[in-house]
Amino acid sequence: MKIFISGVAGFLGSHLADRFIERNHHVVGCDNLIGGYMDNVPNDVEFIQSDCTDFYKMKELLKGVDIVYHTAATAYEGLSVFSPHIVTRNIVDSAVSMISASISNKVERFVLCSSMARYGTNEVPFTEDMTPKPQDPYGIGKYTSELMLKNLCEVHGMDYVVAVPHNIIGPRQKYDDPYRNVASIMINMMLQGRQPVIYGDGKQKRCFSFIQDDVDILEKICFENNVVGEVINIGPDEEFVTINELAEIIADLLSFDLNPTYMPGRPQEVFLANCSANKARKLLDYKTKYSLREGLGEMIKYIKDRGPKEFKYHLDLEIVNDKTPKTWSEKLF
Ligand SMILES: NC(=O)c1ccc[n+]([C@@H]2O[C@H](COP(=O)([O-])OP(=O)(O)OC[C@H]3O[C@@H](n4cnc5c(N)ncnc54)[C@H](O)[C@@H]3O)[C@@H](O)[C@H]2O)c1
Repeated sequence: MKIFISGVAGFLGSHLADRFIERNHHVVGCDNLIGGYMDNVPNDVEFIQSDCTDFYKMKELLKGVDIVYHTAATAYEGLSVFSPHIVTRNIVDSAVSMISASISNKVERFVLCSSMARYGTNEVPFTEDMTPKPQDPYGIGKYTSELMLKNLCEVHGMDYVVAVPHNIIGPRQKYDDPYRNVASIMINMMLQGRQPVIYGDGKQKRCFSFIQDDVDILEKICFENNVVGEVINIGPDEEFVTINELAEIIADLLSFDLNPTYMPGRPQEVFLANCSANKARKLLDYKTKYSLREGLGEMIKYIKDRGPKEFKYHLDLEIVNDKTPKTWSEKLF
């Protein structure tokens, strides 16, 4: 099969590409390199550096493609409150362009990577039947993309699946980005001998998925018939931890003497966020293979091998005021 992965230089896109290459599929992918790392792109991928919002380019690239995985996004939930233009451009505009280009090329199936940010302030654990209540431009953008996908697929008849990941962890995640990836940021800081920063009191809770657990489900989503038109949470739901506990586990794995720096909470940050994986268990026989400690251990190995790095403030803050975290406005990381 010919599989197209947008955002193939990114964390999730590159691992998915590896999996489909292992299965002998023809993998084509694009990335505009606003995030990710160029050396994430597996050698056997036919790579094109281009932007998903360029509809005519996407229309040309998607000729003869059977399946599209749209993973490209500026996946910045906290930052989206302060840089909504750049974030939603690479979420909503990019998704609509990819959906339209896919339909016009008669692509068989479109898999959209959404986010649990779609659930916002719903009660945990989040289940797929809940009405989304996103709390920030990132979550609103993801849910808007889902609505666009459903609407256009129903009119024009393309199979689609909405995959909803948790916070994913693992090798190849960008760890020099000050705006996202809490576990990577903490590891990068502790490896530099610096105390991690925690927003709020650190009692907010999250669930983390190891990348291979997500790739297993995303691969199945491509072929099974019982998932068409469905929204499916992906990733484990067994270990629900506070950000304080996350810092403690990382410090323990690194034998680091932990004394975090606490900063004011970020606006619109949801306190409790974890998704039920029951639907994935039922439809796709999902089983978690990696514990949180194992996943963090793999991530530490990766960052140690490449070496800790200085943080790069590579995206502009569009709105700077007294609500903007000082870690960003004053470049404190
Ligand atoms: N990593 C997580 O914890 C997580 C959790 C929930 C949902 N997701 C979703 O999964 C997907 C992948 O996330 P990730 O962690 O791999 O992010 P990532 O930043 O590592 O990868 C995304 C890639 O998309 C590229 N990109 C962004 N805008 C683009 C555009 N307009 N055209 C072409 N390329 C573009 C970036 O350069 C980057 O390489 C995203 O849609 C994200 O919202 C991720």
